[in-house]
Amino acid sequence: MTKQIAVLPGDGIGPEVMKEAIKVLDAVSKKHSFDFEYKLADVGGIAYDKYGTALPKETLKICEKSDAILFGSVGGPKWDDIPKEKRIERNSILALRKHFGFFANLRPAILYPELSGICPIKNVDNFDILVMRELSGDAYFGKSTFADDEASDDMRYTKKQCDMIAKAAFEISLKRKKHVTCVDKSNVLSSSILFRKCVAETGKKYPNVNLDYLYIDNATMQLIKSPNYFDVIVTTNLFGDILSDEAAMITGSIGMLPSASINESGFGLYEPAGGTAPDIAGKGIANPIAQILSAALMLRHSFKNEKAAKSIESAVRKTLKDGFRAKDIMEKGKKEAGTKEMGDLIAERVR
Ligand code: IPM
Ligand code: MN
Repeated sequence: MTKQIAVLPGDGIGPEVMKEAIKVLDAVSKKHSFDFEYKLADVGGIAYDKYGTALPKETLKICEKSDAILFGSVGGPKWDDIPKEKRIERNSILALRKHFGFFANLRPAILYPELSGICPIKNVDNFDILVMRELSGDAYFGKSTFADDEASDDMRYTKKQCDMIAKAAFEISLKRKKHVTCVDKSNVLSSSILFRKCVAETGKKYPNVNLDYLYIDNATMQLIKSPNYFDVIVTTNLFGDILSDEAAMITGSIGMLPSASINESGFGLYEPAGGTAPDIAGKGIANPIAQILSAALMLRHSFKNEKAAKSIESAVRKTLKDGFRAKDIMEKGKKEAGTKEMGDLIAERVR
């Protein structure tokens, strides 16, 4: 079976870690008799430099014709001063989310026992949560104004948007511990009142799922105080962005966090949750695991091949077990591996 994958490495560490994800996918392809056809396309700052737009038409066309999108990361200080209407993030990754109607962003955060030593919190065991971030609304896509003396971003939500992410969260919780925590700011924000109301209503259809609620400020605190309390967190776009970075640190590093963005028809974009890390770009030391695990999510959600997805996840786990660490998750007594070496080690273990 041939699957066409749009590969959009982007900026910063994007191209380096993407190379390793492809290497691992090639190993999967041999082992699980998959045929992948990669269609490379420019996105982000590199596309802006070449074509004056962060999302060239050609790139969008390639994405539309593909079975899934594997995305790296975009942006960086080099483009901080370009005209506001050309801003890299808004015109590339946010434009793609909007174009394809990616409404759900799945961010599984797992602390592997091998990394418990670098988890900044003491006594965390079994940390394995899923942040279900609403991805199509909120301040990201509301009306936005900017003038020198005043600026605004509209935190807008429709009932339909809230219902969709709520349903997705409950459905996925059935395959987990059947515990959903709704995180919002409904003591202050109207958009959050609607969000919570929709989650509560949807929850009635899932009587076997334990549903509770936290305000975002309290949730950030509870995540540190009692990380093991959580299973599925369903939350709005902006809070999900912030909360998933916090969850990433409990797993040891943002370099460990993959993500899947899915639309109603099941089409998906897969990207690491971390950014372009311009400070370490080009040095060969970036952790490719988040990008590699994003490829695993692609196999699971877009290609419905649990076995192939697991083979990547197990290979990552085995690499850690064997004592290899990228720089960001390095500990005394372990063997430090660069980006390429990490990719080699994981691909070897897939085979
Ligand atoms: C993320 C990123 C993006 C976001 C940026 C790059 C626009 O931080 O995917 O978490 O804010 O959604
Ligand atoms: Mn983010």
